[in-house]
Amino acid sequence: MKKKTIVVLTGAGMSAESGVSTFRDSGGLWEQYRVEDVATPEGWYRDPLLVTNFYNGLRRQLVTKEPCEGHRLLATLEQDYNVRIITQNVDDLHERAGSTSVLHLHGELFKVTSSRNPNDPSQIRTLPYDAPDVKIGDKAADGSQLRPFIVWFGEPVPNIEPAIELCGDADIFLVIGTSLNVYPAAGLLRYAPMGCPIYLIDPADVHCPMSVTHIRKGASEGMKEFISLLS
Ligand code: APR
Repeated sequence: MKKKTIVVLTGAGMSAESGVSTFRDSGGLWEQYRVEDVATPEGWYRDPLLVTNFYNGLRRQLVTKEPCEGHRLLATLEQDYNVRIITQNVDDLHERAGSTSVLHLHGELFKVTSSRNPNDPSQIRTLPYDAPDVKIGDKAADGSQLRPFIVWFGEPVPNIEPAIELCGDADIFLVIGTSLNVYPAAGLLRYAPMGCPIYLIDPADVHCPMSVTHIRKGASEGMKEFISLLS
């Protein structure tokens, strides 16, 4: 029998139990830093050193984190389903948990690229885990300053088109740990086929434009409940 396809949209709450900060919860990253300073092209032009150091710090933290049970349960679902993950997260915890189909909408923390042509694939490279820092003066292949391979606010989201296509393949749609505040990612639910069941795992209320089955739990406990609902 053909495997059903589960399309999963994840956000920062997916990695919260791994000890990675969310953005908009109380104590989240955007209470500690100004978005305009560290997550916009304007911030980068104003102070590349500040931005470089911010992402160096996030990389150093990520090295110390491990996937949580929720990441691992999602990976084991691949035994019985085609699981297609679309993540807003820039960490690599889905991959480290063993998920094989992960589309990153907002970039990847361990990748760096040209500040002149950030989306040119020939400019993107992956930093080694044991040397996660970038310095001002480190150059991309085209001679420009290396910048994080992160989609900042106000920049295009190159992976949104493939993400929209994936959504159309969903037999089941699962959303985990996102406040659905940031577009275009938050609009992806609208591309789920008509009648496709949508599940949402999040301990908090989330304003969602569609009718969903809300599993009001954290990612790991929520995944257990989701799996029990599938069987
Ligand atoms: N399990 C599941 N969800 C959780 C958990 C948990 N243990 N803890 C918190 N959450 C939920 C919160 O209730 C909230 O709804 O995770 C969500 C996190 O929301 P945000 O902090 O807004 O993160 P996210 O939606 O991923 O942000 C989207 O915004 O700043 C940008 O580029 C950044 O990709 C990010 C985007």
